[in-house]
Amino acid sequence: MPSFIFSVTSLCYASIAMVAATPFWPPPPGGNRVDLNPYPHKPRVTFRRDGTFKLTIFSDLHFGENPWDWWGPEHDASSTQLMKTILADEKPDYVVLNGDMITGENTFKENSTLLVDEVVGPLVKARLPFSSTHGNHDNQHNITHLEEILREQLVAPNSYTRLAPPGIGGVEGPGTYWVPVYNKITDRAPALVLWFFDSRGGWSQQNSSIPVPDWVDSTVAGWIEEETAAMNAAWGPAENRGAVAFVHIPPHAIQAVSETLNNATHPGLDDDELGAGSTQASGDASEAGKDQPFWDALNANAKNLHAVISGHDHGNEWCAREPTKKVIFCFDKHSGYGGYDSPTWGHGVRNIVFSTPNPKVGAETWIRLEAGETRAHIVLDSRYN
Ligand SMILES: *[C@@H]1O[C@H](CO)[C@@H](O)[C@H](O)[C@H]1NC(C)=O
Ligand SMILES: *[C@@H]1O[C@H](CO)[C@@H](O)[C@H](O)[C@H]1NC(C)=O
Ligand SMILES: *[C@@H]1O[C@H](CO)[C@@H](O)[C@H](O)[C@H]1NC(C)=O
Ligand SMILES: *[C@@H]1O[C@H](CO)[C@@H](O)[C@H](O)[C@H]1NC(C)=O
Repeated sequence: MPSFIFSVTSLCYASIAMVAATPFWPPPPGGNRVDLNPYPHKPRVTFRRDGTFKLTIFSDLHFGENPWDWWGPEHDASSTQLMKTILADEKPDYVVLNGDMITGENTFKENSTLLVDEVVGPLVKARLPFSSTHGNHDNQHNITHLEEILREQLVAPNSYTRLAPPGIGGVEGPGTYWVPVYNKITDRAPALVLWFFDSRGGWSQQNSSIPVPDWVDSTVAGWIEEETAAMNAAWGPAENRGAVAFVHIPPHAIQAVSETLNNATHPGLDDDELGAGSTQASGDASEAGKDQPFWDALNANAKNLHAVISGHDHGNEWCAREPTKKVIFCFDKHSGYGGYDSPTWGHGVRNIVFSTPNPKVGAETWIRLEAGETRAHIVLDSRYN
C-alpha cells in the first residue's frame, strides 16, 4: 500500500516537472545563503529565454450567479469558454485572477467551494502558473476568501496563491502574499516580484448584516516593510527588481484620479463613475484614510513599481498616474459573464508584457476582448501621463 501511494505521488510530481523547470537546489555558493523563495517545491516562475514575460489578468469572473435561473449556469459556461479561448490565444507565462471569482451571495453552504474547481479548471488543464486575489463578493454567508484559497490550493497544483502569516490582513483578509519571477531558473534573486493584496469587503459569514471592512488592513503595511527588508538583505537593493501589485478594490486615492481623466490621453472605457463603495474605504466618512498605511508602505518599499492593478468597477479599463505617489494605476477588464454589466462593454482580459527582465524598462499593457479585438495599448513607463 505505501509503495502504491508513493508511486502515485511521484507521478504527479513528474507531470508537473515536465511542463516547467524543477526548483533550483542547492543554493549557489557565496553571498547570503538565505533562500527567500516561498515555493521550494514548485517550479520557479521565469521569464522566457528571449527575455520576455507575459501576464494575463482575468477579473470579476463572478461564477455561481443565480444557479436557480437558466441564465446563471449559462453565464458560467460562457465565462469558462472565454477563459479557454483567451488562454489558447495569448499563451501567457502567468495568469492572475484579480478577485470576485464567485458571486458568493448566491452560493450554498454545502457546495460553494466547488465553484473554485470550475473557475480554475481551464488553468489546471493548461498547467499554467497562476494565483488569485479575492473580492467583496468572495466574502459572504456561504463562502469566504479563506475557504476559496484552501480549495484552490487543494485542487490546483499550479496555483501560487498563499495565505498571509497569522495576524496579518485583518478580519476575512488572509489573501496577501508575493510571488518571485526569475530571469533565469538558476538566478538567486528574482527580476520581478508580483504582489497580491486582500482588500476584503463583503459581509460577515457569522452575521450577514455586518459588513467586512473593504480595505487592505493596516497590519499589511508593517508586513510589506518586513518582507521588503528581508528581500533587500537576501537579494540586494529593491532597485534591482521590478514590481507589479494586484488588489481587487482600487486604493482610495484612485477616486480623485478618476475626476481628472482625459479621453485623448487615457484610453479605455470610463463608464463607471467612482463613488461610495467603488474604491477602498469609501463607504462613509468614518472610514476615510483606512487604506492609507497600506498605500504608503507599498509605494515607499516596492521600487520600480510598474503598476497597481484592480478590478471591481466593471465599466472601467483606463490606466492613470496617481499624483501623490506618481505610480500608474490600471483597471482590469471585466472577464465574467456574471456580475453587473452593460451590453456595450464586452468581456476580456488585461495583458501585461515585459520585453526584458531589466527592472527599469516599462511593460506594455492593453485590453483584449474575447473575440480578439484589442484596445487601450499603453507603455507603463515615465512617459505615460
Ligand atoms: C447558504 O446556504 C444554505 C444551505 O444551503 C442556504 O439555505 C442559504 O439560502 C444560503 N444562502 C444564504 C445567504 O444564507
Ligand atoms: C449547489 O447546490 C444547489 C442546490 O442544489 C445547486 O442549484 C447548485 O447548482 C450547486 N452548485 C454547485 C457549484 O454544485
Ligand atoms: C447581526 O448584526 C446586527 C447588526 O449589528 C444585529 O442587530 C443582530 O442582532 C446580529 N444578529 C445576530 C444573530 O447576532
Ligand atoms: C470618451 O470615451 C468614451 C468611451 O471610451 C466614449 O463613449 C466617449 O465618446 C469619449 N468622449 C470623447 C470626448 O472622446
